[in-house]
Amino acid sequence: MKQTMGVNTIDFKYLRQLVYEHSAVVLHGDKTYLAELYLQPIAESAGFASISELVKHLRIQPFSSLHVQTIEALVTNETSFFRDTQPFEVLKQFLLPELVKTRSVERSLNIWCAACSNGQEPYSIAMLIRENFPMLANWSVKLIASDFSSKVLERAREGRYNQLEIRRGLPNTLRDKYFQKLDSDWQINNQIRQMVEFRQINLLQSWSSLPEFDVIFLRNVLIYFDIATKKSLLKKVRQQLRPDGYLFLGSGETTINLDESFERVSFNKATCYRLHNA
Ligand SMILES: C[S@@+](CC[C@H](N)C(=O)[O-])C[C@H]1O[C@@H](n2cnc3c(N)ncnc32)[C@H](O)[C@@H]1O
Repeated sequence: MKQTMGVNTIDFKYLRQLVYEHSAVVLHGDKTYLAELYLQPIAESAGFASISELVKHLRIQPFSSLHVQTIEALVTNETSFFRDTQPFEVLKQFLLPELVKTRSVERSLNIWCAACSNGQEPYSIAMLIRENFPMLANWSVKLIASDFSSKVLERAREGRYNQLEIRRGLPNTLRDKYFQKLDSDWQINNQIRQMVEFRQINLLQSWSSLPEFDVIFLRNVLIYFDIATKKSLLKKVRQQLRPDGYLFLGSGETTINLDESFERVSFNKATCYRLHNA
């Protein structure tokens, strides 16, 4: 008979430590039910009778792809096209027009989505550029999108979304223009896909392979980190951002009380950040 799966406190403590060590994400105690939901399929497909059996295996075995799968399953990937709307409006109405002017000699622009999940965020930026800034077609525009999770990056590179995902935030006009129907899903077309360079980057590790950026989207990821991690990542952002560049955080995130080198810049209902004295 199949055993009932469940995550007990001791197993959850181990899982929380495993996730923290590899991603810095802090899993709160109220996530035990989610852990059960996400780990059950992994335990089953790896042939374990319960999540406890899976955890027992993970504890004694050297770090393996099963550890990676477990960690990636426990980290939130929630995202959508044009999430929160306003940051994209600010990019369209204020920041990109300004950057088009200030970078008109070098004609290059670097944008980074630093925790891009399944790709909706960078593809939203790519569509926004394609729709509104035709002059950038002759520039060197680097749109780098990264995540630590190979699972989400694989999906992001494929650019294939189900009905539910495609309906979240994406206007039908953009869907019809930039996506092709694939069975009941929709897949981004090559024109937009080629604008985005996906890379696997764990924010805790070195960023030395990256260029300096004019705009950094670091949205809805700091919220999962503890204060020390937030501070150390904002310090790295400071070094990665051009002196007059802009940083976007999620709506529940801020630099305030974490890094005083940033100042808030408000446009209508949206806020982004730039370095003092920019
Ligand atoms: C909630 S999603 C946010 C996606 C998108 N930025 C948005 O706002 O819609 C958070 C993403 O952060 C990624 N993440 C978590 N810890 C990370 C780390 N240490 N390095 C890189 N990515 C990480 C997760 O894999 C997940 O895809």
